[in-house]
Amino acid sequence: MSIISDDNKFTGDSAQKDSKKHSDFHKNPVIKAESIECDKNFENSIRPKSFDAYIGQSALKETLKITIAAAKKRELPLDHLLFYGPPGLGKTTLAGVIAEQMGVNIRITSAPALERPRDIIGILMSLKGGEILFIDEIHRLNKVAEEILYPAMEDFFLDMTTGKSQTVKTLRVPLPKFTLIGATTKAGELSGPLRDRFGIIHRLEFYTEDELAQVITRTAGILNIEITSEGAHAIARRSRGTPRIANRLVKRVSDFALVKHDGKITEDVANESLDILKIDNYGLDCTDRNLLKLIIEKYDGGPVGVETIAAAIGEDVRTIEDVCEPFLLQAGLLQRTPRGRKVSPAAYRHLGYKDIDINEQKSLFQ
Ligand SMILES: Nc1ncnc2c1ncn2[C@@H]1O[C@H](COP(=O)(O)OP(=O)(O)OP(=O)(O)O)[C@@H](O)[C@H]1O
Ligand SMILES: [Mg+2]
Repeated sequence: MSIISDDNKFTGDSAQKDSKKHSDFHKNPVIKAESIECDKNFENSIRPKSFDAYIGQSALKETLKITIAAAKKRELPLDHLLFYGPPGLGKTTLAGVIAEQMGVNIRITSAPALERPRDIIGILMSLKGGEILFIDEIHRLNKVAEEILYPAMEDFFLDMTTGKSQTVKTLRVPLPKFTLIGATTKAGELSGPLRDRFGIIHRLEFYTEDELAQVITRTAGILNIEITSEGAHAIARRSRGTPRIANRLVKRVSDFALVKHDGKITEDVANESLDILKIDNYGLDCTDRNLLKLIIEKYDGGPVGVETIAAAIGEDVRTIEDVCEPFLLQAGLLQRTPRGRKVSPAAYRHLGYKDIDINEQKSLFQ
């Protein structure tokens, strides 16, 4: 399998950019799943390439293995696939694993890079039979690009028009049979017709502590970092169910272990270092805690609109919706209501508010 990337996703950044991100990190040690720009070389080096190395998501993996085996038997390309779920759970990685298993090339791009009709037409026409086209953030495709994709996905044709006004002609240009893999953090924003054209739609789930401990142990092995099982679990507990965060924390904790201790990550070393990074027992960082505290202290626990929250804590709405909220919702610390966001009694308890505040909040939930 070879990977041809249109948005530099698998190709890595310059060392200069990496070192700037590194120094930014030390100024503001907040770890976010969306910081995909950071440490791309590192991310690529530890990205699993096979189903065996791809940890967790077992139900999804089993389904995919059968689908792949059937496609191979029929000697046909796979049905189009859509993966959705919060950032850093392994959508792009899974697309790479599928290409590897099918033994085909994967072309990687993202919807914002397909702004003009010729961008999507160019990429479709350059595909070879059986290849996989991976479109990240597919919910951001514009209408024109979507309409070009419909016949391409359904019948492997491009409908093109030539000439002007009265002499306009429509041409049907055949395309080789390909597989489109779309990935999105916001399945709800995908248009109905586009969603319906995917044969297989799967949601990626947050990972359990055990699964993340396996991810961490695997990454530590690749990077020659010594780690105990308890150390791996200590990092896993604070990784917000997300492999990308787990991997980045291993690296940060390993720096700390090297400078302050003998380099080995034990439970104590991991906990001490994560405390310094201000990542709490739930894996929440300063931004998450500020968000919850704001709703509790300024808005009596909510409901409050996401735009108001974003303005008050100085983050953009997309970061809050895509990065902070999925985990806070799944951890039961935050609720989304038609009138805005509300914190739960568990959030009060976690942030150390007194019982009286919790009781007031409970009555709001009844
Ligand atoms: N199941 C897994 N097993 C081991 N490592 C994983 C797994 N899933 C993801 N990772 C690691 O987590 C990192 C992030 O994964 P990936 O880039 O595939 O996430 P994503 O869902 O595409 O995120 P985004 O929505 O931000 O594009 C990868 O570098 C990979 O090493
Ligand atoms: Mg991705």
